[in-house]
Amino acid sequence: MDERLIEVAFPLKQASLDSVHEKNVRHGHISTLHIWPARRPLAACRAALIATLLPDPGNAEERKELLERLGGHVVKHVKLKKLPGGRIEEQITEETVGGILHWGRESSEDLNWFREKIRAAYGGRAPKIYDPFAGGGAIPLEAMRLGCKVTAVDINPVAWFILKCTLEYPQRLANQRRPLPAFACESYEFMESYFKTKGFKGAALRVQLESLDLNDQKQSSSQPQLPAIQTHVVSVEADLAWHVRAWGWWVLQQAKADLSRFYPTVDGKSTVAYLWARTATCKNCRATVPLLKTRWLCKKENKRVVLTMGPNADKTGVVFDVQTDVPPLVKGTTAQKREHDKKLGGGTMSGSGVTCPCCGTIMTREDLQLAGLQGYLGSIMTAVVVEGKQGKEYRLPVEEENKLAIAAENELSNTFAEIAYGIPEESIPQGASRASGGSSFTVSLYGLTRWSDLFTPRQLLALGTFLKYTRTVRKSMSEQGYSAKWIESVSAYLAIGIDKLADYIAALCTWHVTGEKMSHVFVRFALPVNWDYAELNPLSASSGNYWACMDWVSRVVEHNICASEKSVEPHIVRRSAIAEHDSDKFDVILTDPPYYDAISYSDLMDFFYVWLRRALYGLSVEIDNEVKLPSSPKWDHKSEDGELIDEASRFDGDRQKSKANYENGMFRAFQACHKSLTPDGRLVIVFAHKHPDAWETLVSAIIRAGFVVDGSWPIQTEMGNRTRALSSAALSSSVWLVCKKRPATARPGWDNQVLQEMQAKITQRLHDFWDAGIRGPDFVWAATGPALEAYSEHPVVKKSNEPGKVLSVSEFLRHVRRMVVDFVVGRVLSHNGGADAVSGLDDVTTYYLLHRYDFGMDSAPIGPCILYAVSCGLSDAALTSRYDLLARTGGQTPVEEDAVAGNSEEGEEEEQEEGTSSTVKLKQWNLRKNPSMGYETLVGPPAPLIDQVHRLMHLWKAGDVTKVDDYLYTKGLGHNALFHQLLQALIELAPAGSEERAFLESISNHVASRSVMPAYRLGLME
Ligand SMILES: C[S@@+](CC[C@H](N)C(=O)[O-])C[C@H]1O[C@@H](n2cnc3c(N)ncnc32)[C@H](O)[C@@H]1O
Repeated sequence: MDERLIEVAFPLKQASLDSVHEKNVRHGHISTLHIWPARRPLAACRAALIATLLPDPGNAEERKELLERLGGHVVKHVKLKKLPGGRIEEQITEETVGGILHWGRESSEDLNWFREKIRAAYGGRAPKIYDPFAGGGAIPLEAMRLGCKVTAVDINPVAWFILKCTLEYPQRLANQRRPLPAFACESYEFMESYFKTKGFKGAALRVQLESLDLNDQKQSSSQPQLPAIQTHVVSVEADLAWHVRAWGWWVLQQAKADLSRFYPTVDGKSTVAYLWARTATCKNCRATVPLLKTRWLCKKENKRVVLTMGPNADKTGVVFDVQTDVPPLVKGTTAQKREHDKKLGGGTMSGSGVTCPCCGTIMTREDLQLAGLQGYLGSIMTAVVVEGKQGKEYRLPVEEENKLAIAAENELSNTFAEIAYGIPEESIPQGASRASGGSSFTVSLYGLTRWSDLFTPRQLLALGTFLKYTRTVRKSMSEQGYSAKWIESVSAYLAIGIDKLADYIAALCTWHVTGEKMSHVFVRFALPVNWDYAELNPLSASSGNYWACMDWVSRVVEHNICASEKSVEPHIVRRSAIAEHDSDKFDVILTDPPYYDAISYSDLMDFFYVWLRRALYGLSVEIDNEVKLPSSPKWDHKSEDGELIDEASRFDGDRQKSKANYENGMFRAFQACHKSLTPDGRLVIVFAHKHPDAWETLVSAIIRAGFVVDGSWPIQTEMGNRTRALSSAALSSSVWLVCKKRPATARPGWDNQVLQEMQAKITQRLHDFWDAGIRGPDFVWAATGPALEAYSEHPVVKKSNEPGKVLSVSEFLRHVRRMVVDFVVGRVLSHNGGADAVSGLDDVTTYYLLHRYDFGMDSAPIGPCILYAVSCGLSDAALTSRYDLLARTGGQTPVEEDAVAGNSEEGEEEEQEEGTSSTVKLKQWNLRKNPSMGYETLVGPPAPLIDQVHRLMHLWKAGDVTKVDDYLYTKGLGHNALFHQLLQALIELAPAGSEERAFLESISNHVASRSVMPAYRLGLME
């Protein structure tokens, strides 16, 4: 096979649209099986795999056909959306039609076609695919769906176990059925849901139930006798997913019997959740102060409930009450209404600290940390959420409830006595805590140092009880004659259920006041302390309850059984990507490595590891081996191997060392990939780090490891218009880099030749990408890979004019990016026609045009802006401070601040991508008030052209035409063709009817009308 499809073309827009769409998919998607950070969208993985496995057809027509079959085509819809204030806005949405990337289309006939085509491309055998950083398993799952032979590796035992549940168990038991256990067949409730999912309802459903002698006790007396309905009686032989449901249901029944008394029903209304606040003692008056970020209990348009609070009689603490029907501010702006509500439901915590409701003294974060470390932080139950007839209701706790919360503690040792490793008292890793320079963990700064500290006694009791019965299942299944394979698989998913429950019933979960539901722990990949938290009743019917958790799990099992029906057994290994691979050679390695310090996988996921080891221990020798250590692997200095993240605490706080260690580790991992790849195999690497520096370092490592980079496609994975995405997502795109092995005979290259070759190669590709509708930062990324081919074909590129020196990747990419942005700016200035590229435009103006063209004057995610800045030889910092062109508009909330004063009133449900966050926007011309703007300093470079235009606009606004003319004359702008092109482009970019546009047009007319500038006209005619 020569060129692969991915090296020539890719259904970029379709893969992006379907990847973004997938974020909304819930039922059955692997992201709902178990939390794992940075799972890649299945659509993107599927597209990349197919395009890498299949050869490029070699002609435009067949290529087009293949791309359409893969990605379908894009259609646009225009919707009118009513905005606050009654304004109507036209919104354009795009979606794909056809193809096999969209969720739900993965089981279409065309997928079979691709499966066969892939096999044919490999001479009738299943190609071998390897993912050495497999994490949550998106890449290997898609490879299996395509019929490939998969090896999935991850160093982390939680990831390894998720991989088994995602890939191995469904594949192993696909197409197999077993009779449902007797207890399930005897349960009306369970069997009713079984038959209902098979499509039965009404009388037909009753026939099925009666075939099992099941009658609805409540209804049978009032219902007429069944007429003789002829319905085929469905078999109760069920697949793995239904067995998981059945045994989950069994665990729930056992746990209910033990736990119900701890969640009493008061006044006939069952409990959804208990709401708590941590407490501290006021450093002045010694009152017990509840640490509340908000007192809102429910804040919906038609339902507004707050917790009221005032000092008690002797001012030793507070008394609470619940106020329903809290009136909103009827008149006023949105901001005024928000402010009104903020005051109404304000807690004791604010940006400045905690205010004592009894004496007004303010306690700082340091005071709280000290109290926490000394064990002086307590908790108080503030309210209870119950299930009323008309929905959720809020009330104060009764005495019995306070007593039961404490009583649970007495049961703990008994419950955990039967469980391997007992209560999870393993230490929470300090690595990523602020104390050691990281920022995603703050719990230990407040004295919560063991995993068990993150749960209330009743939460521990609930988890212990579910664990106990989960572990009993294997014995019961064995007594009922199930094979070891079935027992291991079912028990594994039940263990996943425990992890899911732990995510919902830790004392770090909050109450979602607008959704009236539970938020979970890993809303972000961080472990900040939460001051006011909610304790869910796991036996309730509310989101996050045990049964709901098991339902999510079994739906994924169902989906993954279908995905793996036509695949061979996967090979799942827990080991380091650095380690030498066995003799097996792979046809394609497609992987998504960790990036520097973006996510502390092992530290964070130990939250689950401690529960998993308790749930799994004893299931098999292989599993016992993987869960025997108290925490998952970090970095082993002796073997110089371990988790590849940049975490200074693992190197005595030495940041340089940690960074170098990460980079060297990645190089070794790429070397291992090189060894594991067949001679004409391909390595595809996903990069999700937004900073080009990080990217360049890793690309250098890939080239050093023996690869030629020859393709790069930026696939969008985040919704562009989501506020949360703009303010916190790392990157809206991940870049998929395509590499092949460099022949051993490759010789060193010379910079001038390499640059020439790159220019010749890339010019046509730029036209192709532009014509294919690729725009913005995507355009820069798409061009980078093909351009890199000229450079990476050589093991090293020497500088012809500087003996002994080499051209670095960064230097080379600077040329590439400049060429690419000049091409784009050329298009902008010539209104998409005319010259290919512009030359001679200064860096700052080039940046301005790129930014303005893509994002207008709106806030833009920092990632692409950094890329543009770097491409123009600038930095975002210089554009903000030195050039006063950019303004920062948002940023990642530091976890610490969030912990003390954040407003998590409205819990977040989005999973976070890798990287950091912030947004910037261009400054309006009239806000650029620096008096030196547009004037040269004595020694500095000429003022950027955009500054000169903005200076002219200020002068124009001031109304002094002489000054305008003087400025035009001194700067020689009339003779400057670029100035006229820029003016025209800015007019087109400014909104119609705006003051900006009016000024620019007036200036343009003024310049054109000046007879003193005949040279300009000549210039224009040239
Ligand atoms: C970006 S994530 C992979 C996510 C995955 N593609 C998915 O869709 O879920 C990177 C993974 O690398 C793993 N990892 C870190 N260091 C490793 C090493 N030395 N060897 C193997 N895996 C490692 C982490 O545990 C993490 O699961």
